[in-house]
Amino acid sequence: MVIEKICCIGAGYVGGPTCSVIALKCPEVKVTVVDKNKERIKQWNADKLPIYEPGLDKVVKECRGKNLFFSVDVESAIEEADLIFISVNTPTKTCGNGKGRAADLKYVESVARLIADVAAGDKIVVEKSTVPVKAAESIMNILRANQKPGVSYQILSNPEFLSEGTAIDNLLNADRVLIGGEETKEGQLAIEKLCWIYEHWIPRSKILTTNTWSSELSKLAANAFLAQRISSINSLSAVCEFTGANVSEVAKAIGTDTRIGNKFLNASVGFGGSCFQKDILNLVYICECLNLPEVAAYWQQVIDINEYQKSRFTSKVIESLFNTVTDKRISILGFAFKKDTGDTRESPAIYVAKTLLDEGAKLNIYDPKVEHAQIFEDLTYATGSKEYVKERVSLFPNAYSATEKTHAIVVCTEWDEFITLDFRKIYDGMMKPAYIFDGRMILDDEKLSKIGFHVHTIGKRNMRRGLKRTWGTLDCA
Ligand code: NAD
Ligand code: UDX
Repeated sequence: MVIEKICCIGAGYVGGPTCSVIALKCPEVKVTVVDKNKERIKQWNADKLPIYEPGLDKVVKECRGKNLFFSVDVESAIEEADLIFISVNTPTKTCGNGKGRAADLKYVESVARLIADVAAGDKIVVEKSTVPVKAAESIMNILRANQKPGVSYQILSNPEFLSEGTAIDNLLNADRVLIGGEETKEGQLAIEKLCWIYEHWIPRSKILTTNTWSSELSKLAANAFLAQRISSINSLSAVCEFTGANVSEVAKAIGTDTRIGNKFLNASVGFGGSCFQKDILNLVYICECLNLPEVAAYWQQVIDINEYQKSRFTSKVIESLFNTVTDKRISILGFAFKKDTGDTRESPAIYVAKTLLDEGAKLNIYDPKVEHAQIFEDLTYATGSKEYVKERVSLFPNAYSATEKTHAIVVCTEWDEFITLDFRKIYDGMMKPAYIFDGRMILDDEKLSKIGFHVHTIGKRNMRRGLKRTWGTLDCA
C-alpha cells in the first residue's frame, strides 16, 4: 500500500514505544517521531532512553538511524508524512471550564493547527492520544477551515491500549487494534491504509474497525472498566480487613468464574498512572455535559473509592504508629505507580508520602527506577515546599540502606526485588517495634510476623492488632 512515511507528534510513553515497534515491523516505512521537547529528543537519540520500558532499548537500537528517527523538526516531518499520529499529552484541565475533570485538548489543537499550516499534500491524521468522544470533529473543523487547495485530510481514531512496564509485549502481541473512521468511501480507504501498517504483525481478525465515535468512546470505556475492577476489589479489601476474609482468596474465588475473569483483581493501595483517573474524570465530565448525572455519578464513584483506599491505607500507617509519626523515620519502598516503570504520574506513593510528611514524618525513599530528581519534584509539587522536602526526605540506592533505623516500612510499588529481600537483616537494623505496611500484597506476612514485624497487608486482618468481632460491637484485639 501507499504509506511510505509516518510522522508521530509526541515522543512520550506512547509515541516512543508505539512508533519504535511500527518501525521494527515495517522496515520499508520511514518513521519519524518528533517532539517540541529538545531534551526528550536528545535522550531518544542517546544511549539512555528517556523512559524505562523493558525491551524498548533493543527495539530502538535495532531501528534507530535505519527507518526510525527522533527529531525536533516537527514541520519537516509533517510535510513529508503520508500518515501522522497525534500522540501528545491530553491532561486534565487545570483551569477554566471543566477544571479538574475535562481533558485539556490544547496540545492536540496546536498540533492540528500546525498540520493545517504545513501540509502541502494529502494526509491521514490519526488520533493516538486519548481524547473525549467527538474530538475528531474538532480536529477536522480546524483542518478543513484552514485547508489549502490540493490538500485533503482523513481523521482516524486509533487509541492505544498499551500498559507501561509491559508496553513492548502489549504492542507486539496486542489483544486487539482499534481503528475508527468516517463511514464514507474515503474514510474506509484511510482505515484500510492504517490496517495495512498493523497487518505487518497483527492478524486481521484482531484489528477492529468502527465508526470514529465508537473508537474514541471505547478507549475511555476500557480504562473506566479496568479501573472499576480495581475499585471494586479495593472496596472489598476494607470489608476483608474487618472480617478476617482474605481479599486474595476472595479475588481468586470470584476470578475463577470465567464470566468475571482473574485479571485486574489485585487489591492495592490504589491505582495510579497517568491514564485511569484522567480518563474517568473526562468520562464523568462528558456525561455531565450530556445531562446524564446518574451515569456521571456511577463512574465518579470509581475515583472516590480510589481516594478512599489511598487515605484508608495511609491512616492505617499513622494509627498503627501510636497515632503520631512526627519526627519518626519511615521508609517508602517503591515510588513508581507500578513495577517495571520509572513513571510516577499519579503514583499512590506520592499521596502516601505527602500525607506522612504533612504529619511531620521523615522519609527514606527507595525505588529501583525512578530518578531522584523526579521524586523531589513530585513531593515539592505535592507539599508546596522545596525546603521542607529537602529537610525531611532522603533518597537511597537500595532497600537495605533505606530501611535502616526506621520505625516502619511502607511498600507502595510491587517491585519483584522487594519480595526476595532479607527481612531478618532488615528487621535487625530497624527501630522496635518494627512495622511493615504492605500496600501491594507482595510480602509473606506470616514469615514477617515470625521475624517480629507488626504487619499490615491490604485486604487482610492485621496479624497482631486485628479487630475482633463480637456481636454488636467491634473491639480492638
Ligand atoms: P507524554 O507526556 O509522555 O508525551 C507526550 C509528548 O507530547 C511530550 O513529550 C510533549 O512534549 C509532546 N508534545 C506536546 N505538545 C506538542 C506539540 N505541540 N508538538 C510536539 N510535541 C508535543 O504522554 P504519554 O503518556 O505518551 O500519553 C500521550 C497520550 O496517549 C495521552 O493522550 C494519553 O492519555 C494516551 N495514552 C497514554 C498511555 C500511557 O500508558 N502513558 C497509554 C495509552 C494512551
Ligand atoms: C492503563 C491501561 O491498563 C492501559 O490499557 C491504557 O492504555 C493506559 O492505562 P497503565 O496505567 O500503564 O495502563 O498500567 P496498569 O497496568 O493498567 O495499572 C494502572 C494502575 O492500577 C497501577 O497503579 C497498578 O498498580 C494498578 N493496579 C492494576 C492495581 O492496583 N490492581 C490491579 O489488579 C491492576
